[in-house]
Amino acid sequence: MTSRNVLGFATRCVHAGQNNDPTTGAVMTPIYATSTYAQSSPGVHKGFEYARTQNPTRMAFERCIADLEGGTAGFAFASGLAATATVLDCLDKGSHIVVGDDVYGGTYRYLEKVHRPSGAADARFVDLSGHPDQLWEQLTDRTRLVWFESPSNPNLKPLCSVPSATPTAPAAPNATTTSAAPTTLAGTPSVQASESAPSADDADGCRTVN
Ligand SMILES: Cc1ncc(COP(=O)(O)O)c(C=O)c1O
Repeated sequence: MTSRNVLGFATRCVHAGQNNDPTTGAVMTPIYATSTYAQSSPGVHKGFEYARTQNPTRMAFERCIADLEGGTAGFAFASGLAATATVLDCLDKGSHIVVGDDVYGGTYRYLEKVHRPSGAADARFVDLSGHPDQLWEQLTDRTRLVWFESPSNPNLKPLCSVPSATPTAPAAPNATTTSAAPTTLAGTPSVQASESAPSADDADGCRTVN
């Protein structure tokens, strides 16, 4: 059972996914600044080899954000666009994506200047703030993703009500962590971009999935 079943949102923001530090008993996960971890012999270690692949601080953050989003796993990235690119790169060549028409400029440029020229995906930009029919009319048998921001960036347009029966995986990037929890829709990745990370080494983008 995850903590969302028993604890309030504010408490989960602080404690979800956290365990007492096994070395000292510290209640909050310390910041591990190491890049490598000791191995008793090559390949024999405590589950941590190198910071790019495992870092206890990052893993605590990933568990916390997954819990807040109602997902089962979180993946932290050094930037929001790194998280965005990872979600988009999961799509097969030739997939269709329906995208809000005032999506974040970096996302628009990634889709138009990187993804489209490589033939990876065909993005269709639509006003998703109006009637849900505007979304439904764009869906094809090759639509694999509906990409919306809630609210949109920069115009803060609200999102139309998306029925949970949407036959694709909606992806919902947000400028801040949210309790909107789009991950509660089956198979839905959610992307969070945080502008207030304390250092460049800390996660600035996170993807959660269920
Ligand atoms: C909605 C949204 N997506 C993605 C990003 C990109 O985040 P980053 O600058 O960390 O790559 C931002 C940044 O403002 C954003 O607002």
